[in-house]
Amino acid sequence: MKGFDGKVAVITGAGSGIGRALAVDLAGRGARLALSDIDPDGVVETAALCKTIGAQAIPYVLDVSDRNAVYANAEEVLGAFSEVNLVINNAGVALTARIEEMSWDDFEWVLNIDFWGVAYGTKAFLPHLIASGEGHIVNLSSVFGLIGTPTQSAYNAAKFAVRGFTEALRQEMRIAGHPVGVSCVHPGGIKTDIARNMRGLSAVDHKKVTAAFDRYAWTTAQRAAKVILRGVERNSARILVGADAYGYDLTPRLLGGRYQDLNAFVARLGSVQAAKRGLQL
Ligand SMILES: NC(=O)c1ccc[n+]([C@@H]2O[C@H](COP(=O)([O-])OP(=O)(O)OC[C@H]3O[C@@H](n4cnc5c(N)ncnc54)[C@H](O)[C@@H]3O)[C@@H](O)[C@H]2O)c1
Repeated sequence: MKGFDGKVAVITGAGSGIGRALAVDLAGRGARLALSDIDPDGVVETAALCKTIGAQAIPYVLDVSDRNAVYANAEEVLGAFSEVNLVINNAGVALTARIEEMSWDDFEWVLNIDFWGVAYGTKAFLPHLIASGEGHIVNLSSVFGLIGTPTQSAYNAAKFAVRGFTEALRQEMRIAGHPVGVSCVHPGGIKTDIARNMRGLSAVDHKKVTAAFDRYAWTTAQRAAKVILRGVERNSARILVGADAYGYDLTPRLLGGRYQDLNAFVARLGSVQAAKRGLQL
C-alpha cells in the first residue's frame, strides 16, 4: 500500500497504546478511521484526537472475542465508509502465570482475545479487503510469537498462532492473486498499558512488574506506529518493532531449540533476583 490518504483503516484495540498511536498517525496521513475497542471511553477519546487533526473517525464499542459482534461490526463499517482498505487486528491482553497454576478462565481469556479476535477480524473483513482492489491486513503478534518464555505460555500460544495464521494468509493471497498485502508484527517492549491490564499476578507483584515494564519497555507507542506503517507501505511480511525485537528474532535462529536452555537459565537468574526483592515470578 503506497500511502494512506483517503484510505479506510479499521483498528481494533484503538482505545490505548499502539492502537491509539496508529490511529493518530494514520489520521495525520489523511486516512479515514473505523476505530473499535472494548473500552468505550478510550475509543471515544482516540476518535476525538483523530478528529482534531481533521480526520473522519468513527468509534465503535467491540469485544473482538465475540465472533458475531466482529461480523456485525464489519457490516456496520462497510455501511458507514463503503469500503475498507486496511485492517489492523491490534486488540490484545497479557497474562503472567505458570502452566501448573494457570486457571482455564485466564487461559481462555487470552486465547479468545489474542488469537480468536485476530482470526475473526481477519475473516470478517477479508472479502471487503479483496473487493477494495487495494487492501492490507496487519496482525499483531509479539516477540513472544518468536520464542517461548516461562510464565507466558498462554500469550505464547496465542501469538505463535497469530504468526502461523498470518504467514499462511499472506501466501494464500499471493497464490490467489488477490490485491491484499499481509504483515505480521512482532513488537518488543512498547511503553503502553499492556502490563497494567495484565492478569495473573498478586496486586503487589503486579505493581512491581508494571513498574519494571515501564522502566524496560524502551520503544514508545508512537515509534511503534511509525515502524508498523512503514512496514505496510513496504508490504513487509514480518515487522519487528524495537531493537530488542531483533534480538528475540535472532536468538532462536542462532541457537535453534537450545535457546530454551539459555532462556530458562536467564529466567532462573531473574527469579532469584526477583525473590530477593520479594517478587514471586
Ligand atoms: N506493549 C508491548 O510491549 C507489546 C509487545 C508485543 C506485542 N504487543 C501487542 O500489541 C497489541 C496492542 O497492545 P498495547 O501494548 O497497545 O496494549 P494496551 O493495553 O495499551 O492496548 C490494548 C487495547 O486492547 C483493548 N482490548 C482488550 N481486550 C479487548 C477486547 N476483548 N476487544 C477489544 N479490545 C480489547 C484494550 O481496551 C486496550 O485499549 C496487543 O495485541 C499486544 O499483545 C504489545
